[in-house]
Amino acid sequence: MSGDVMRIDLMAGATLSAAYPAQSPQPLILVFDSGLGGLTVLEQVRRARPDARYVYVADDAGFPYGGLSEPALVTRVTAVMERLLALHAPDLVVIACNTASTVVLPSLRQRFVTPFVGVVPPIKPAAAATRSRVVTLLATPGTIARSYTRDLVATYAGDCDVALVGAPNLARFAEAEMAGEPVDDAVLAAEIASCFVTLDDGRRTDVVCLSCTHYPLLLPRFERLAPWPVTWIDPAPAIARRVVQLLGPHADEAADVTHPVLGTFTGGAGLSPALERSLAVRGLKTLTVESMPLVRQ
Ligand code: DGL
Repeated sequence: MSGDVMRIDLMAGATLSAAYPAQSPQPLILVFDSGLGGLTVLEQVRRARPDARYVYVADDAGFPYGGLSEPALVTRVTAVMERLLALHAPDLVVIACNTASTVVLPSLRQRFVTPFVGVVPPIKPAAAATRSRVVTLLATPGTIARSYTRDLVATYAGDCDVALVGAPNLARFAEAEMAGEPVDDAVLAAEIASCFVTLDDGRRTDVVCLSCTHYPLLLPRFERLAPWPVTWIDPAPAIARRVVQLLGPHADEAADVTHPVLGTFTGGAGLSPALERSLAVRGLKTLTVESMPLVRQ
């Protein structure tokens, strides 16, 4: 045990039934990502349904998803989900990851009866917000490569110039930020430089879609390092609205019922005290290790 963070090693036989009694009337929502990016979605969903119970799962054994092939990602997420659903029996799962959502949702929905809410690049609101009609979609290389993403752009932003920027390192930089080891400004500025486009006719990017849930963790720094001000679009509030649509609103707004979030990590490598502090600030006060090594093909 360290500070107020309790460790339960599921591999050692502990169960979660004590943390979340099955008879509780509050829905159990499982928020899933490859790492810590999904915390940006969790925050918005908790705001919308503060009474719900939450499990946050970081599949850090598979991080970064941006580097996995589509078949490997489908296999991985399906296998991890099978185990998580059996363990927690959530009322709803949020796949708080663009890289996964853009490819695994159909197979998850086909295989499991639990409702899934995914996160996909917010190109539709971006097209509504842009005045210059020059928009950037900033994502992992995996999300940029998806035909799903290309189709979204063609459908909703056909009349815009859209720069598709696949950032190889940004998700890792966001993880480092959470672990109290931020990368230098120059390194971060170089990683986002290609988001800012000036066309021959003088029009320039005025909207950037944050199409990886890790990126809002770096938003204050993006705003400071941007060569000119732009609108940054984070899809998390829309995801929270979708969850409320499916589960219904918080019944008793006045009641003080906020539960701590159970945080689960699949890597089993151990979390630094600095990271534990960042997680505690975001409500993850109980952390478990559900070791699920990724076998790389
Ligand atoms: N947070 C994930 C997303 O929204 C991606 C990070 C990764 O590459 O694992 O795309």
